[in-house]
Amino acid sequence: MREVAGKTAFVTGGASGIGFALGRAFAEAGMNVMLADIETDALTAAVRSLRDFGPKVRSVACDVADPVSVERAAAAAYAAFGNVHVVCNNAGVAAGSGIDVISLDTWRWVLDVNLMGVLHGIRTFLPHIRAHGEGGHIVNTASMAGMLAAGMGFSPYAASKFAVVAMSEGLAAELQPLGIGVTALCPGYVRTRIAEAARNRPPRYGEHVGSPLGSRVAELVRTGIDPREVAARVLDAVRNDEHYAFTHAEYRDSLKERFQAILTAYDKLDGAAL
Ligand code: NAI
Repeated sequence: MREVAGKTAFVTGGASGIGFALGRAFAEAGMNVMLADIETDALTAAVRSLRDFGPKVRSVACDVADPVSVERAAAAAYAAFGNVHVVCNNAGVAAGSGIDVISLDTWRWVLDVNLMGVLHGIRTFLPHIRAHGEGGHIVNTASMAGMLAAGMGFSPYAASKFAVVAMSEGLAAELQPLGIGVTALCPGYVRTRIAEAARNRPPRYGEHVGSPLGSRVAELVRTGIDPREVAARVLDAVRNDEHYAFTHAEYRDSLKERFQAILTAYDKLDGAAL
């Protein structure tokens, strides 16, 4: 979508971190922006800090784990701005590790937000974007943890992010003929509040059991890149219709190693009777 000025973006997880930076970058590019988030106080503060953009930046409460809530938030965006063109399915949470130690409720929480939340955004907005025919772009926030699981140590998170990458790749192929772009956003560590994700854990998922995210991860996040760098990369990816948006150059060797290991295993088929 070369021309974004005058178009409308809907960003989940828009009250903090990457989502907030995306909202600001879109507003600076001349777009209308609807920030959607489960944390309403943070949403109010986010809109206040973007007040220079006036009524072009608004907010709506939304729990992406709940499809009805996403539908309602979409209706608020249509009422405020008319058609929506760019949808960032960005809200996400992380929890501690130990595949057999953490509770099933923790698995459900992470998958409900990080995977089903993305799906709910796609199912809600895609028919609308197809119908208005003005072009569109869907950005799904995955992670380098959706490319490299080894050593990450928090299994539901990596599982959800691998799934988001797979879903985005499939969707990109499906929507290419319609001129609707899809980007899987795969950042490394970014300076946000992700290490405090438990602040938004609804009581229905119970208490966290197992190890917490850990001080090492918190430190990596604290020293991560500025979310504004991520937002600039995303804006570029939207304008140039890119399927992947990476933000950290240092993972190249690890990616190569993973892909090479897969190819080496695959090449054992050589000479085998198929
Ligand atoms: P953050 O914690 O600063 O922002 C996440 C936002 O999502 C918060 O405003 C939170 O209230 C919202 N949220 C949580 N549950 C929600 C729900 N059920 N419905 C709606 N909103 C909800 O964290 P950050 O880092 O900005 O996270 C954004 C995305 O970036 C996530 O998908 C995360 O997995 C991803 N990511 C973050 C990285 C990092 O190092 N910070 C690295 C790679 C990916």
